[in-house]
Amino acid sequence: MSSGFIAASILDVPFYEMLEKINLAKRHGLKLLHIDIMDGVFVPQISFGLNLAYQLKNVTDLYLETHLMVADPEKIVAQIPRDLFVRVFFHYEAARYPYRLITTLHSKGVAAGIAINPSTPIYSIEPLLEDVDAVLVMLVEPGYGGQKLITSTLNKIEALNEMRKKRGYRFLIACDGGIKIENARLIVEKGADELIVGTGIFRSEKFPNIIQEFLSIFQKTLVT
Ligand code: DX5
Ligand code: ZN
Repeated sequence: MSSGFIAASILDVPFYEMLEKINLAKRHGLKLLHIDIMDGVFVPQISFGLNLAYQLKNVTDLYLETHLMVADPEKIVAQIPRDLFVRVFFHYEAARYPYRLITTLHSKGVAAGIAINPSTPIYSIEPLLEDVDAVLVMLVEPGYGGQKLITSTLNKIEALNEMRKKRGYRFLIACDGGIKIENARLIVEKGADELIVGTGIFRSEKFPNIIQEFLSIFQKTLVT
């Protein structure tokens, strides 16, 4: 297992607090921000567009990744420049030509991740597993922060972990939605390399110290 990392999802951070919270999180060990782009079609809400990512790039040196919860990921991916994101997740359920998206992202030097909704079985993405850099297992229905994790999704993490070991695939397993300090260790034990955490960080009473607690889960899991 790789050492693992935490991505902080800023979806539920008020705009007027964003820079302050991001800087605090960075001072407490955070390295990666997760930006949820929503179009009001694939999911009910509209959140951010690429514009926010450009703005953040100008004011922070944290790594950025994006999670495209949009009906037409081709359209956004075509607009993504090199060097803005380290990784882009698009949804399997929205992608007409997933191989083309992966190739386009790779041609820009960006890691390609495929996200699956809680009800999407992993066999749907099996043909892509050799080519993707990451699989994002949604632990809640996409669209909102602060939801409760759907327990049955955890089996998919285990199954993906087994599959990559058996076949020698190199994709990362990322998990998003409903992750709190109380369930994070279990998710890592199932095989997750990346935990994407929104309200579990930014709405925690222990913010920003909670970040260190999340980071230490990977170390503890490696030792045991
Ligand atoms: C939900 C988003 C998540 C969200 C997670 O669809 O993709 O990134 O911000 O929020 P929490 O951690 O509160 O479930
Ligand atoms: Zn997300």
